[in-house]
Amino acid sequence: MREAMASAVVGDDVFGEDPTVNRLQEETASLLGMQAGLFIPSGTMGNQLAIKAHTQPGDEVILEAEAHIRYYEAAGAAFNSLTQLHPLAGDRGVISAEQVAGAIHGDDVHLPPTGLITLENTHNRAGGTIYPLEAIEQVAATARKHDIPMHLDGARLLNAVVATEVPARRWAELFESVSICFSKGLGAPVGSVLCGSTEFITKAHRYRKILGGGMRQAGIIAAGALFALQHHVDDLRLDHDRAQTLASALAGYSSVLLEPAEVHTNIVLFGIDPGFASAEEIEQRLEAAGVLAFAVSAHQVRLVTHRDLTEENMGRALDSFKKVWA
Ligand SMILES: Cc1ncc(COP(=O)(O)O)c(C=O)c1O
Repeated sequence: MREAMASAVVGDDVFGEDPTVNRLQEETASLLGMQAGLFIPSGTMGNQLAIKAHTQPGDEVILEAEAHIRYYEAAGAAFNSLTQLHPLAGDRGVISAEQVAGAIHGDDVHLPPTGLITLENTHNRAGGTIYPLEAIEQVAATARKHDIPMHLDGARLLNAVVATEVPARRWAELFESVSICFSKGLGAPVGSVLCGSTEFITKAHRYRKILGGGMRQAGIIAAGALFALQHHVDDLRLDHDRAQTLASALAGYSSVLLEPAEVHTNIVLFGIDPGFASAEEIEQRLEAAGVLAFAVSAHQVRLVTHRDLTEENMGRALDSFKKVWA
């Protein structure tokens, strides 16, 4: 990847003249079966541009309560787009078509018009869970009935693709826009691509410029993302297998609340019996034993497997569990 980046052919992407960026955009759009793509520095910018391009100030955005857009994007939907979020309580990241139908506002002057529905697949805070395709189809049918666009925060969509063998374009066809990240399990240092219709991407391109996201010789970083797309996707399977290995080991400790079957991809989210320790204490004990974990709430800890792990690292992780739960 570093060699591909070092030898990347570049141009000025603010003028649309960087061949490596153009290729990444085309290959990603083609993978998703969409008309056009836009290279952006982060998954957050992908979501924010999508909200901006799909909505009008004063609109409401329906999403699952634990969604990245609501939780980790610093109220960007309000800050950038003057929109209000309408969170729905999900079941491990999944909201139903009935919930969505009940949240859509009709033509009532008291209520904000529903401008957008966003879903997240796989779902980060729910623990890398895969949104069932049929559940998305039902939400999409509701959205179409009301003529409301759908955006997919597909930061980890390719994890769902590899785990289910449902092609990326099959998921993407249910949405008006999709963003995917190369900087997570796919292992590139930087970058995401937002895809949609040519008209939508033309709008998003303008907003990218306004937000200062137009980058000049961006081919150097796009080359890393392109390499990841071309060479790293299938490797996500190993991350998923290793997440299962960690989950099975953890499930053996009585103070750990975890069903290995609920681990769908590369994220292992587990609860801790509060009588044993807090999530923060577990995070600290794991770190002292050589494993970096993340306390996502007072009683939940997250582990993520990734392509830089070795078998030796995996063995060390399992040993560290024994120390922490001794
Ligand atoms: C589901 C999801 N969407 C979007 C993002 C944002 O990506 P970035 O960190 O590149 O802004 C993340 C980051 O973890 C994520 O998990």
